[in-house]
Amino acid sequence: MRAFPPGFVWGAATAAHQVEGANTASDCWALEHASPSVFAEPSGDAIDQFHRYGDDLALLAALGLNSYRFSIEWARIEPEEGFFSQAALDHYKRLIDACWARGLAPCATFHHFTSPRWMAKQGGWTSPKIADAFGRFCEIAADELAEDLAFACTINEINIPAFVRASRMAPDFSDAHRKAAMDALGAPPESFYMFAGTDGYAERAVAAHRRARDAIKAAAPNLPVGMTISIQEEEAEDHDDARTALAQRRAAIYDPFYEAAKGDDFVGVQTYTRMMTFRDGRTGRPKGAEKTAMGYEFRPQALAAACRDAAHATGCPVLVTESGYAGEDGRRCTFIQGALDGVHAAIADGVDIRGYYYWSAFDNFEWMSGYGPRFGMIGVDRRSQKRLVKPSAAMLGAIAHANALEVEDGETVVMDETGAPLGLGGRR
Ligand code: BGC
Repeated sequence: MRAFPPGFVWGAATAAHQVEGANTASDCWALEHASPSVFAEPSGDAIDQFHRYGDDLALLAALGLNSYRFSIEWARIEPEEGFFSQAALDHYKRLIDACWARGLAPCATFHHFTSPRWMAKQGGWTSPKIADAFGRFCEIAADELAEDLAFACTINEINIPAFVRASRMAPDFSDAHRKAAMDALGAPPESFYMFAGTDGYAERAVAAHRRARDAIKAAAPNLPVGMTISIQEEEAEDHDDARTALAQRRAAIYDPFYEAAKGDDFVGVQTYTRMMTFRDGRTGRPKGAEKTAMGYEFRPQALAAACRDAAHATGCPVLVTESGYAGEDGRRCTFIQGALDGVHAAIADGVDIRGYYYWSAFDNFEWMSGYGPRFGMIGVDRRSQKRLVKPSAAMLGAIAHANALEVEDGETVVMDETGAPLGLGGRR
């Protein structure tokens, strides 16, 4: 029975735009509806969590989890510059209350990729105004919401724009795509967070993080606040040119953000795979590796490597704010077990890891890939919006409930006839 420390946080994560539906005032919505678009399909009603959060939280709690990570949507709360919607703030208050009522500690992210259209029109995350604009939103939102949170993340994957640029992962925007983005959004595609890794990005983002952290701390001094960082296990091909390229890559995509995280209450680690740097400077899967539905290497061990790296570089306690797998559920179970084996071993070695959120609680809108890749441990039939608990969810719930990797013999999650979990306890 490999136990985790008492009070370990066990959760699952989502982001507003990916699950709520109809996020019409956001820059992402506009880009999805541009023609042509780099998005495979529009997000539409997503999984309608905006209305169904109560049942969704009840499901997660019944599984055995003790926390839920979600994001609050800037484009809903400030749909026009300077207009703050009390109704939207009240919605998130109800969501936070509903978490506590079901025994789930709420972890809120203040920015998860999407911004209001008015911000995009001013350059979005390429604009020097971003820190002030985001900071002001955080002040208003934190005043209303922060006191009732258990954790706050300022910016999700603060380094992803730099990561996308360094890894050459941005779509190749044709003239037609650029014109369509201008027509739909009134701004070039780089104004959208994921593509905003232009020169000076790290300074803009770190300034925005600081403004957000200070605003949240002013409203709730005891609330743990941190940024989240996309951290993959990084390796170089056995060649000097590859090692040099990897050192440059680290300096561009990790070092400035690790430096900025020092002194924060925690660092959020988000890991999906291993990235190999080759001698020609390109990055990708090691040759012959098993692929997930995202085309990443299947590499559950990457999570512990990333936690060790982040803890060493920042000196902060680690919260695994995302770790996940897209594809078939049997492999998902193996992925989760493997990732948690590594986390448990790292904790035994003295790495201060406080919690783990699986990405994602539900199948959802996977950005440019649309609804194709499925990361959820709970499936969703989007025509009926019915939820279907997959075996991986029951497995993670049982681990969470036991706070240990080996669950007591005979303990299993009991489901009703629709596949919804009723709780732990039945004997096999
Ligand atoms: C993001 C999520 C995304 C997931 C899977 C992370 O980079 O935070 O929004 O869905 O990866 O690609």
